[in-house]
Amino acid sequence: FNVPKAVNEPVKTYAPGSKERDLVASAYKEMWNSKIDVPLYIGDQEIKTGNTRNMTAPHDHNHIVGTYHLAEKTHVTQAIENALESRKKWASMTWESRAAIFLKAAELIAGPYRAKINAATMIAQSKTIHQAEIDASCELIDFLRFNVEYMTQIYSEQPGSDSSTWNRLEHRPLEGFVYAVTPFNFTAIAANLPASAAMMGNVVVWKPSDSQVFSAKVIIDIFKEAGLPNGVINVVFGDAIMITDTILASPDFAGIHFTGSTHVFKDLWSKIGNNINKYKTYPRIVGETGGKDFIIAHPSANAKQVTTGITRGAFEFQGQKCSAASRVYIPQSLWPAVKNQLEIDLKSMKMGSPEDMSNFITAVIHEGSFDKLASFIDQAKKDTDAEVIFGGDYDKSKGYFIEPTVILTTNPKYTTMETELFGPVVTIYVYEDAKWADTLKLVDETSEYALTGAVFSQDRYAIEEATVALQNCAGNFYINDKPTGAVVGCQPFGGARASGTNDKAGSILNLLRWVSPRTIKETF
Ligand code: ALA
Repeated sequence: FNVPKAVNEPVKTYAPGSKERDLVASAYKEMWNSKIDVPLYIGDQEIKTGNTRNMTAPHDHNHIVGTYHLAEKTHVTQAIENALESRKKWASMTWESRAAIFLKAAELIAGPYRAKINAATMIAQSKTIHQAEIDASCELIDFLRFNVEYMTQIYSEQPGSDSSTWNRLEHRPLEGFVYAVTPFNFTAIAANLPASAAMMGNVVVWKPSDSQVFSAKVIIDIFKEAGLPNGVINVVFGDAIMITDTILASPDFAGIHFTGSTHVFKDLWSKIGNNINKYKTYPRIVGETGGKDFIIAHPSANAKQVTTGITRGAFEFQGQKCSAASRVYIPQSLWPAVKNQLEIDLKSMKMGSPEDMSNFITAVIHEGSFDKLASFIDQAKKDTDAEVIFGGDYDKSKGYFIEPTVILTTNPKYTTMETELFGPVVTIYVYEDAKWADTLKLVDETSEYALTGAVFSQDRYAIEEATVALQNCAGNFYINDKPTGAVVGCQPFGGARASGTNDKAGSILNLLRWVSPRTIKETF
């Protein structure tokens, strides 16, 4: 198949005085006061239901960025009907036409809409320019380009034939529609979940997170400008339970592409199980959920490298990554050097509004998240088996700011070593050097989740031991690097256990979930 070779989009640096920095700064200013009013996107209509909610900026929560309209049950039903109607043409459109739309969308993001999608992500999801660039521009572009390449690999996969028999595989889309439920923390993931299913010929009802409405609007507008026909991806906002229950009651529900919390995903499985006799086909259930991602250092590790792994792995993106490092195991002999370096690194970490592009971290997403983090920090200040050694301040007077915080514990099963916090808080446990093997066992036993993890060591035998001992603890395992920042086309992403179905976003494995192949045998 002849498609443009997928290449990773280079990350722009936004250096002071650069043109790209000026462009994003003016997009930010213009969009900050735009008072945007976001409709539902159903079929060929943009529906304003009149029942609205405000969109606010997490780093300045009194500032109303705009409003968005909430769906009633009838709108969800309408979205399903429009999706099914659009399926009649979309499912039989040539794959080249479908691919061209998403390749064009990638180019629109890479060029004219880059500043806009980054600014929307900075304003309403409180990301710094570097975080927005990596997520909303580069990762999203990569998903679109690489998935087109994987799509062609799927279509070219054919069984053997002989002169009297021609065997063929037809990679049909699922019979029905796909429900995409997406998170606030990555604009790229939010766009990829509906897009990857649609690319394979499926029609979609997409429910973005309430905290990601602004960038969702930018995305759907770009997809439409790139040529996506009306009704292929329908967008509804509002009450998650009502929307989900309406969707899951439809006999045409054919699959869910989900990223979000573990408990919501488990709930979805039960609801789908309860409805199983309603469906025409067994629905595909694909989900990426929580993480309690680890770093374990061996006594041979380089202390500076370990510390960079901790500070970048735990605090970049405000720690609001399912992959973020949140529990760390350090050998006693390495601890003084790591602690010393942590203090230096943390001093240089600036926190504040994304508008100031020199900031390294900004606010967490909303008050619920802020309050949860603050209560775990307060508890650690009181507990006898824990101590807040760096950070620990928080302030929600203007925005939801949590200082990068390091908790030291003497208890390897301390609550913050086991509970996912989803914010800039990391917990460290110092183990005796001689207990390396026991500590590996401990990490495995306490890995309810299995998303990402990292080992730091200069000793090849130790790396091998960790790789084997922790084989079920992380779908993405890093050696001498932070456990975050998977790049599409390089490190397919996803984990097992309570972290999800491990259908690796940004890989052929994921796209294969969105086809229902038909085998055709023709005899001559
Ligand atoms: N895919 C993102 C990462 O690897 C979440 O950090």
